[in-house]
Amino acid sequence: MSNRTFTMIKPDATRKGDTGAILNHIVKAGFTVKAMKWTKLTAEQAGLFYEIHKERPFYGELVEFMSSGPIVAAILEKENAVADFRKLIGATNPAQAEEGTIRKLYAASVGENAVHGSDSDENAAIEGDFFFSKLERF
Ligand code: CMP
Repeated sequence: MSNRTFTMIKPDATRKGDTGAILNHIVKAGFTVKAMKWTKLTAEQAGLFYEIHKERPFYGELVEFMSSGPIVAAILEKENAVADFRKLIGATNPAQAEEGTIRKLYAASVGENAVHGSDSDENAAIEGDFFFSKLERF
């Protein structure tokens, strides 16, 4: 089991000014930031990041949304990082997310759901590598 996960604070949350509050939530839950950047994806880059969802009906909408504004990308460290982070953010659909989770607090819909969290150790490594070189990790 790896101790790292990857997250993005999505354009809906950065647009609403929730970036600081969400980061505070993450750090208070015991995650350490190993790498972080404020950036904006092109549609091509968002398409590549979410390539595993290419055949899904919501892929076009997802790519358009994820390239619609700035995001914060980060590699986070904590024991049992992937599972603990998914618990912290709550269900993909905020309507089904538990009270107190980041998506319950900050997300509006299944498409615009404030944060991404890797779903496996393998994907956490792939997603972290997508955004960060070795020189950008501390
Ligand atoms: P994320 O964890 O970033 O990974 C894939 C994303 O696809 C997911 O969050 C949602 O934001 C999005 N997604 C999943 N299901 C739907 C859906 N039914 N409609 C629109 N977007 C979706």
